[in-house]
Amino acid sequence: MTSMKIIIPVYLFGVISLTLLHTASSIECPQFCTCNKTTSEAKCQNRLYDGIPAFPNYITSLTFTGMNLPEVKKKTFNLIKDLELQVLILRHNRIGNITADALSELKHLRHLDLSGNSEMKIDQLAACLGNIKSPNITILKLNSFGWENEQIIIYEAISKYNITELQMSRNYFKSLNMSALEQYVPNLTSLNVAYNDIEHIIPGQLRKLEIWRIHHNYVDVNYTLFNSTGTCNFPSLKVLNLTSNFVNHFENRFSCLDKLEVLVLDRNPVKQILKETFSDLPSLQVLHLNHLGDRLYNIEAFPFRSKTLKELSFSRNHFAFLKSARYLYFDSTQIFSKIPNLEAIDLSENYFNLTDGVLKEMISNLTNLKRITIKSCKFQTIPTDIFSKMKRLEVLNLTKNHIGSWNGTEVFGSISSLRTLRLDFNYINVFNDTSFPESFMANLKSIDLAGNPFFCSCKNLWFRKWIHSWRLKRPHIFKGYPANYLCINPPELYNTELKDYFPSDDECYPEKMNAALQSFIVLSLVGIFSVILVSLIYKGRWHIRYWIYLQRVKQRGYISLNSGDSFLYSGFVVYSDEDRHWVFSKFLKIVEEENDQTLCIHHRDFEVGKLIVDNIADCIAQSRKIILVLSRTMMTSDWCLFETRLAHRKFLNDDNGSLIIIMLENIQKKDMPHSLRNLVDLTTYITWSEEPDLQERFWTNVLKSIKGD
Ligand SMILES: *[C@@H]1O[C@H](CO)[C@@H](O)[C@H](O)[C@H]1NC(C)=O
Ligand SMILES: *[C@@H]1O[C@H](CO)[C@@H](O)[C@H](O)[C@H]1NC(C)=O
Ligand SMILES: *[C@@H]1O[C@H](CO)[C@@H](O)[C@H](O)[C@H]1NC(C)=O
Ligand SMILES: *[C@@H]1O[C@H](CO)[C@@H](O)[C@H](O)[C@H]1NC(C)=O
Ligand SMILES: *[C@@H]1O[C@H](CO)[C@@H](O)[C@H](O)[C@H]1NC(C)=O
Ligand SMILES: *[C@@H]1O[C@H](CO)[C@@H](O)[C@H](O)[C@H]1NC(C)=O
Ligand SMILES: *[C@@H]1O[C@H](CO)[C@@H](O)[C@H](O)[C@H]1NC(C)=O
Ligand SMILES: *[C@@H]1O[C@H](CO)[C@@H](O)[C@H](O)[C@H]1NC(C)=O
Ligand SMILES: *[C@@H]1O[C@H](CO)[C@@H](O)[C@H](O)[C@H]1NC(C)=O
Ligand SMILES: *[C@@H]1O[C@H](CO)[C@@H](O)[C@H](O)[C@H]1NC(C)=O
Ligand SMILES: *[C@@H]1O[C@H](CO)[C@@H](O)[C@H](O)[C@H]1NC(C)=O
Ligand SMILES: *[C@@H]1O[C@H](CO)[C@@H](O)[C@H](O)[C@H]1NC(C)=O
Repeated sequence: MTSMKIIIPVYLFGVISLTLLHTASSIECPQFCTCNKTTSEAKCQNRLYDGIPAFPNYITSLTFTGMNLPEVKKKTFNLIKDLELQVLILRHNRIGNITADALSELKHLRHLDLSGNSEMKIDQLAACLGNIKSPNITILKLNSFGWENEQIIIYEAISKYNITELQMSRNYFKSLNMSALEQYVPNLTSLNVAYNDIEHIIPGQLRKLEIWRIHHNYVDVNYTLFNSTGTCNFPSLKVLNLTSNFVNHFENRFSCLDKLEVLVLDRNPVKQILKETFSDLPSLQVLHLNHLGDRLYNIEAFPFRSKTLKELSFSRNHFAFLKSARYLYFDSTQIFSKIPNLEAIDLSENYFNLTDGVLKEMISNLTNLKRITIKSCKFQTIPTDIFSKMKRLEVLNLTKNHIGSWNGTEVFGSISSLRTLRLDFNYINVFNDTSFPESFMANLKSIDLAGNPFFCSCKNLWFRKWIHSWRLKRPHIFKGYPANYLCINPPELYNTELKDYFPSDDECYPEKMNAALQSFIVLSLVGIFSVILVSLIYKGRWHIRYWIYLQRVKQRGYISLNSGDSFLYSGFVVYSDEDRHWVFSKFLKIVEEENDQTLCIHHRDFEVGKLIVDNIADCIAQSRKIILVLSRTMMTSDWCLFETRLAHRKFLNDDNGSLIIIMLENIQKKDMPHSLRNLVDLTTYITWSEEPDLQERFWTNVLKSIKGD
């Protein structure tokens, strides 16, 4: 029985302890926070919550901002003191009172940020900071405390730690005591005193300082800042950000900054950049001189001379790089010379005139350039002859110019190294097949043409097809496509995505169709005209021949039939092809063979290769008589009628005797053509008969007529 009494409590204890263990190991992330197991971070923001809750034990970084923690004590961290908390960010938590031992239990703290608790009392803060028990504390951020002066008491408090990064930006310091920092936090590698009112710097040496952010103050620098002790004050400085200060001249060159790689002098009221200002910075790689206001008027020779400089930014200075610029001094051929290793240049928002050649003189010798940015310079075209010589050019950024078109062959024809091209927000309406040569596309990874005022017209049909074909090969090549490739024209398609503009064949091919139609019409007209002409010529061919005949006759002089007996032929026989048989078998046989007369027969006597009218003219001229063999077919033959007409003419010129008419058939005069009827009226004709008796008389009459006068 007693054993039972013992067993039950042991059992109960087991259950209870298991439950406790379970709850302890499964602390959930507080509802108003986010916890990330991979980064071990917890973030809690903007809740009206007093105190710090418990967190899962993997958390090593806690960001607790915008909360209400008026009093911070050791107890405040009770629930998290067992975490291995390395990063504690307590920004803007309205901390008023903080006890000296508040942070003493956070043994692993590396990074403490108390920024934005401007109600905190400085001596309380100093006492608290002096009691951090973590040996690893190196980063301290005390931004936005509203302090009017530097708090040396704080420096003293932290002097026992190995602080390497200190931030005190967004206060109201008027001066900065580098000497005190040298004394108390000599191991600083990063100092941020940006957004103060610092005008005066008490020199001091920070031999390990690498990054110094002192932007947005009123600092004017001279070499005593860097060399006040006879040795260099910041021998390790790599990055000096002096954006938005009062630096207005660099009378002495920057020096004593042998490790300086990045120098940012943006937004300083610089008036002059003197000769070789930066040439004593043997490690300088990046130089920013942007947004200098409009005071800059003089840039001396070789201002950026440097063997190491890789990136130069001279943008938003509204400097007039113009041949015609007055009261401004710069030398276009010297300004960027002696920077042999320059890889990137930014000349955005200055004034250029692409036709005066200054830009070309300035940058065309920088043949190692890889990245060029010239934004917002109102370029109307892409300058030729500048980029084509830069064989290593990878990025060309011409955003926000007024570029409408360019000569693709001249600008991009010999560039094949380009990877990124930005032509977004220009004035490009239409692209055509010459805009981007094939070779230029070789290495292109990204092209941005967004924000251009595209025309949704058939002129861009090529462009759409081009985009499509390149997107098949390189899906992400067009930046901003399709959402930012919008049409402005025609008005009914305003703000339509270019992608959605599918012109139909009817819409788009009218040009081609028109061309086809036009050529069709032209061809048809030519055709119709030719047909008409040919048929007119055909119809009037006899008139034409007649006319030609007259011309010939005129030329050679008319040979009269009566000019002696020197005729070659007794007669010229005009007959229809149909009657050829009769002519050859009967007429020639009787007249030529049996009666020794020579006749001119066009089937036989016309000279080959001679114009037919010439043949006729010759025949008529060389014949004493003209013999018309009349038949019905002869009257329908234009050819014969033509010959008849020539005969008629001769008849009129000479006398009736030179014409002999033979009627092969009995033809009514009313069936004859007018001209023929006239002839028949004026001449007696001999009629052929199939009857042998009558035939004898026929031949007698014929021969008499041929031989007679
Ligand atoms: C945790 O952080 C990692 C790295 O920043 C991130 O990829 C992941 O999405 C985060 N997880 C959650 C749940 O937020
Ligand atoms: C800070 O402590 C003092 C006295 O210890 C007290 O008078 C004051 O109200 C406290 N301030 C806040 C914000 O709690
Ligand atoms: C301090 O940092 C070192 C190196 O990161 C680490 O090994 C050591 O555990 C840390 N000490 C504490 C108390 O966290
Ligand atoms: C101080 O911190 C720097 C950088 O973290 C480190 O190199 C150096 O060894 C540290 N010195 C001491 C004494 O902890
Ligand atoms: C600064 O660093 C040096 C060398 O790393 C070290 O000897 C020295 O103790 C450090 N100073 C402080 C205050 O931690
Ligand atoms: C250099 O600047 C310091 C303060 O920053 C000033 O006291 C000193 O007169 C200046 N020296 C010259 C030569 O301008
Ligand atoms: C620092 O200045 C002193 C005198 O002002 C000069 O002798 C010395 O050469 C300078 N050091 C460097 C590295 O410029
Ligand atoms: C310098 O400071 C300005 C202002 O905060 C910042 O925009 C810029 O990025 C900084 N430049 C460098 C190189 O750190
Ligand atoms: C640009 O330069 C050309 C040639 O020097 C000149 O004719 C033209 O007027 C200039 N244009 C402007 C806007 O200055
Ligand atoms: C470019 O360099 C060549 C050869 O070094 C030189 O002759 C020419 O004058 C230079 N052009 C400019 C504009 O500096
Ligand atoms: C120009 O375009 C390049 C490539 O997109 C980009 O990296 C760069 O920041 C741009 N330059 C400016 C001044 O916007
Ligand atoms: C572009 O330049 C090439 C080479 O100079 C020239 O042959 C071509 O006619 C130009 N094209 C246009 C449209 O001006």
